[in-house]
Amino acid sequence: MTSELFDRLEQQVRALFDGESDFVANAGNFAALIYDELPDVNWAGFYLATPSGELLLGPFAGRPACTRIPHGRGVCGAAATKRGTLVVDDVDAFADHIVCDSASRSEIVLPILRDGELFGVFDVDSPVVARFTAGDRAGLERLVRAFSESLG
Ligand code: SME
Repeated sequence: MTSELFDRLEQQVRALFDGESDFVANAGNFAALIYDELPDVNWAGFYLATPSGELLLGPFAGRPACTRIPHGRGVCGAAATKRGTLVVDDVDAFADHIVCDSASRSEIVLPILRDGELFGVFDVDSPVVARFTAGDRAGLERLVRAFSESLG
């Protein structure tokens, strides 16, 4: 069931990106689609790597969020440092979690790498504890890869 949903979403993102390689346009559509299509999601969006190591808020859907995340901080910073997907089943149990929306209970953060460099992360929050399964992780990794490829 999860893989059918992600098969459909992958087709949709590839259609949205067809003939378009602009970062803001594709990132905005990507965040909006995930926010709209995944059940029990209250925030979906990008934080972009900066030369100082801070993560800077990019296109997103959901409530206004923290604009800058110091180097290595929060779930986003931990995923960026690790350069690997991080799933947090209960944000209250993750000591360094940064609260942007107090409704968030679980979170998944996927790093975006381009030419071996950290480009940023894609963050999805849920008001439900342990919302993100192994299937969601694999599916979102596929979608993030499609997004990254769209930038050319
Ligand atoms: N909770 C994140 C911060 C970003 S918001 O969830 C939109 C973190 O701990 O890195």
